Amino acid sequence: MALRNILHEGDPTLLKKSRPVTEYNARLHELLDDMRETLIDAEGSGLAAPQVGVLRRVALVVDWDGTESEEDECEPEIIELINPVIIATDGEQEGLEGCLSVPGQFGIVKRPRTVIVRANDRHGNAFELSGEMLVARAFCHEIDHLEGRLFKELTDKILTPDELEQYIEEQKGSDE
Ligand code: CO
Repeated sequence: MALRNILHEGDPTLLKKSRPVTEYNARLHELLDDMRETLIDAEGSGLAAPQVGVLRRVALVVDWDGTESEEDECEPEIIELINPVIIATDGEQEGLEGCLSVPGQFGIVKRPRTVIVRANDRHGNAFELSGEMLVARAFCHEIDHLEGRLFKELTDKILTPDELEQYIEEQKGSDE
């Protein structure tokens, strides 16, 4: 396994549409393993192949619900999505969104509250999975990457550092 370089906004690759995966071979598995290591190292919520310069429909999403408590210091559960498609959505949520390819910038983005995706696993077996809240947001965000779309297109405004701090304080205040 190896860490891959994460492309940043301004790189034209991030604006291109990715092609479907057709071969479930060792090369795909190496890409997935490298992306996994890169995502954990960067402490992100998700990572799409175009972010590491590979225009294929491959994305990883951290499954916060499936991850054990922090005290266990185990690696997060990571969902591998090959050729993912959103097949159903429900509700709406508004929340803070950022991206490993747009470091230091955060904006408020509306997303569905629940998202069901259909995808293949690394061996080409189809599955369907439902995600709520952060996972639903990450499904949408990563699939957007496969279309060459960054979250900045969907936010009304990138928060200033002061606004970001205020937003985080407000969220803390609203937690039970
Ligand atoms: Co992103």
